[in-house]
Amino acid sequence: MDVSFTTQDIFTGKHDAAVLFTYNDRSEAETRLEKRIGKNVRIARERKEFKGDGKEVFVEIRADTPRFVAVAGLGKKDDLTPALLREAAGEAAARLRDMGAKSIAVEPPKELDAQAVGQAVTEGVLLASYQFTKYKTQKLDDIKRLESLTVVSDRTGVGVKKGVDTGRVIAESVNVARDLQNTPSQDLTPELLANEAARMAKQDRLKCRILDRKQLEKQGYHAILAVGRGSVNEPRLVTVEYAPKNAKRTIAVVGKGITFDTGGISLKPGQKMSDMKFDMSGAAAVLGVLRNAARLKLPVRVIGVLGLAENMPSGTAYKPGDIVKTKSGKTIEVDNTDAEGRIVLADALYHATTFKPDMMLNFATLTGAVIVALGDVAAGLMGNDEDAVAKVRDAAERSGERVWQLPLWDIYERDIESQVADVRNMGLPRMAGTIAAGMFLKQFVQDVPWAHLDIAGVSWTDARDNYFTRKGTGGTGFGVRLVTELLRST
Ligand code: BES
Ligand code: ZN
Ligand code: ZN
Repeated sequence: MDVSFTTQDIFTGKHDAAVLFTYNDRSEAETRLEKRIGKNVRIARERKEFKGDGKEVFVEIRADTPRFVAVAGLGKKDDLTPALLREAAGEAAARLRDMGAKSIAVEPPKELDAQAVGQAVTEGVLLASYQFTKYKTQKLDDIKRLESLTVVSDRTGVGVKKGVDTGRVIAESVNVARDLQNTPSQDLTPELLANEAARMAKQDRLKCRILDRKQLEKQGYHAILAVGRGSVNEPRLVTVEYAPKNAKRTIAVVGKGITFDTGGISLKPGQKMSDMKFDMSGAAAVLGVLRNAARLKLPVRVIGVLGLAENMPSGTAYKPGDIVKTKSGKTIEVDNTDAEGRIVLADALYHATTFKPDMMLNFATLTGAVIVALGDVAAGLMGNDEDAVAKVRDAAERSGERVWQLPLWDIYERDIESQVADVRNMGLPRMAGTIAAGMFLKQFVQDVPWAHLDIAGVSWTDARDNYFTRKGTGGTGFGVRLVTELLRST
């Protein structure tokens, strides 16, 4: 999408739609609004058709330019946050897009910090208007698409414009991650995803190293190899590094990248198995984070690690009862080949610790149990270090992505004890499955301060809107904005 900033009056441009904001307390803001767009909003308010609450949008259809004038509600003036503004802008953009607007201009409110409002409206519009149409060949003319966004403000200084530029980078990185998530596994094998990582790294002048099957074998990454062994599409371990000169800290971000999860020999039931193309959402988020780090020139060294494999049943597949030797030296008893994410992450997390990071985060669509616990609303958050966990919580608060902490008390180690190996890849039936998986990962992070996010419930959406994702747009890019916020504040 074409994104620009202007100080020109919103009603002088040639946009299809103008978006203004208001509050639910009938204040002087309303009088000001009435002066500019007439009395219809006031009438709508009097008729209780529009109150100005958060996410409410009033749209007036007109004969001349702009064809649509929208007023988006922000709720109570004193309670305004960038997150609420982001949502309101997104709501208005999606509505106007559906009504046929191709170009919109948005005038953010003056209440918050200039840079914050520029960023929030840009993110809201770009995220809410995301579409995945790569595979559509028919009825393309019927697809309504937003083509341009102009952010309008008469606030002087670089503030709003700088926010618009930042918001644009961030939202585009989220949408790049969403494109990867939505791509079907036939077109995104471990090899192809690794190539895509290399291409993105090159574009942003980042270091990228790919280990293929032979190199993984030579170097002893037998956990990731075991999971990938049943597929003709061989596994890969990818490391992408962003290392600015002024960096004082190193943060490692690790992603589960199962390009398709059939369950393997412990085969999944057929219903909704197609969703398992999203089982690489963690890896996609990591690539989005690196894109942001590079383009926003964040002053931290970031090591991105992607553990990529396709989990298939076949004559060569790994089997329940197998014992796998990980790169760390620890052994894993495979009780269920469908708990493959944690096995791949055992090698990927250990690999990341060899870069001696000050902190490590990982993103993984790891357990169905986290969906039972938190639904499609929040990611499960666990860790071995309260400071790392608190940093994630704070960043999530700012990005609007929800996380909820679950404990990793030592007592849960009993659940993953193995009689024959160092650790077993399954907990006990119907017993804290998300925590069991977290406890398992903890065995492979050494003493690095670490936080794990189980994003199985929040990585994609089909039935209803989620975050800034519309129904049916698939991947949400969960985690990209969260980690970017975290990196910006370290
Ligand atoms: N990728 C799945 C987890 C998942 C399930 C994500 C549903 C999103 C929606 C993971 O590899 C898996 O299959 N986990 C098993 C673990 C179990 C066998 C211990 C699960 O959650 O059922
Ligand atoms: Zn699985
Ligand atoms: Zn999986």
